[in-house]
Amino acid sequence: MIPLDAFDLVLFGGSGDLAMRKLLPALYYRHRDSANDPQRSRWRIIGVGREMQSRDAYLANVEAQARKFVAAGDFDEAAWSEFAACLDYVALDAREAGDYQRLASLLADAPAKVRVFYLATAPVLFASICESLGVAGLVTPDSRVVLEKPLGRDLASARRINEQVGAIFREDQIYRIDHYLGKETVQNLIALRFGNMLFEPLWSRACVRDVQITLAETVGVEGRGEFYDNTGALRDMVQNHLLQLLCIIAMEPPSSIDPDAMRDEKLKVLRSLRPMQAEDVALRTVRGQYRAGAIDGQPVPAYLEEPGIPAGSRTETFVALKAELNNWRWAGVPFYLRTGKRMQERLAEIVVNFRDVPHALFPSVTGERVPNRLVIRLQPDEGLELHLMAKVPGDEMQVRPVKLNLDFAETYGTRQWDAYERLLMDVIRGKLTLFMRRDELDAAWRWIEPILERWERDPTPPRTYTAGTWGPASSSALPGRDGLSWLQDS
Ligand code: BG6
Repeated sequence: MIPLDAFDLVLFGGSGDLAMRKLLPALYYRHRDSANDPQRSRWRIIGVGREMQSRDAYLANVEAQARKFVAAGDFDEAAWSEFAACLDYVALDAREAGDYQRLASLLADAPAKVRVFYLATAPVLFASICESLGVAGLVTPDSRVVLEKPLGRDLASARRINEQVGAIFREDQIYRIDHYLGKETVQNLIALRFGNMLFEPLWSRACVRDVQITLAETVGVEGRGEFYDNTGALRDMVQNHLLQLLCIIAMEPPSSIDPDAMRDEKLKVLRSLRPMQAEDVALRTVRGQYRAGAIDGQPVPAYLEEPGIPAGSRTETFVALKAELNNWRWAGVPFYLRTGKRMQERLAEIVVNFRDVPHALFPSVTGERVPNRLVIRLQPDEGLELHLMAKVPGDEMQVRPVKLNLDFAETYGTRQWDAYERLLMDVIRGKLTLFMRRDELDAAWRWIEPILERWERDPTPPRTYTAGTWGPASSSALPGRDGLSWLQDS
């Protein structure tokens, strides 16, 4: 691994769900695997939370959680105690400017170190945290701030937050994180598109019939009822993860992998999204909410019966929509996007369906003709599948669908890094390529906003779907109206 500079990472929301489930385990893995890094003894991670507790009490809590969230075979007692030696805790109320002095005295010994402020808190706190960091003199030239999503509730609030954070940090110090961009398969998609000649000539309306992106989860709201009910699937998954994946699929080859070269191209995609008019929202979007059902044979309650969900809530737990791009490469190619909680399978994948051959010479033994298809699987079982028609052995010239399969775990035989491991290292190294620029965020919100507005005014509640299925029936009608179907329905 490339060595890192020494750093102080200050984790606001240090006792929260994201810190315990993802960030601290990710840092443990990187620490464990960096034994040869000369600066490792100078890593420092400071959890920040409101609760008045000692460092020891915090460490005990972090360790108990890590034993749940680090894979059993990877939790090594000796490696953990070395990692724990880097951890510290500061109790601080994010809205109390005076409390920041406690943090200042801890950081005072190393003003020249890379300093990362990771805000894993509710976005309403972003502005006041940044302002207080500024007032306390904690923002050094080598400081960075990481902003978790969702950044705002709509275009106006996102702009306000960006203004306020931008008053304290320069744009090149601001890391707006979308953890989907850190997933190994997304990196691989970038390599596949821009490291090979094979796909580029086919990668346009001339050869691509449609693109489908599915981010399906089997979990429900997992104790985050109040947050989720205020957010909904459109803000939680579509505005960021789904649109970012669409950008990676649809962008033009950048001139380099420099942050601005990549982000300029992604921005062009977001700006090419055909705006959703009121009638488009009715025709091209589906919102759903799960009712009781079963996941893996176990009964699960309806969304409305989950803890923290107000009676009669109309928050969507499922979204499907059809997007189109107004540009030369993609005009007329539908991009079907969908995401949901409590779906039939945990699955994140991108399917690129190519057009069929203009004239079929060979009969298919199965009677089925499958036009070429590239499936990029983000999780589980990260890999790529290329679907082709091939001759069946024997006398007759008959074909049938076959798959070329690239399974990353099998090919590389190593543990895949979690997205946060990579993104945290990128922040410390000052690499902005995989983080969203302010204008990208603006463009994403601008496209999403008419959908939010129309849904808010619409008196009809979301369509319900049984937990453990692929969502409301009307989701199949989206590609169905174009004579197509989701891969799982075909
Ligand atoms: C988060 C959402 O951004 O992504 C969660 O807030 C969701 O609701 C999660 O569960 C899914 O991430 P992953 O990496 O598990 O697919």
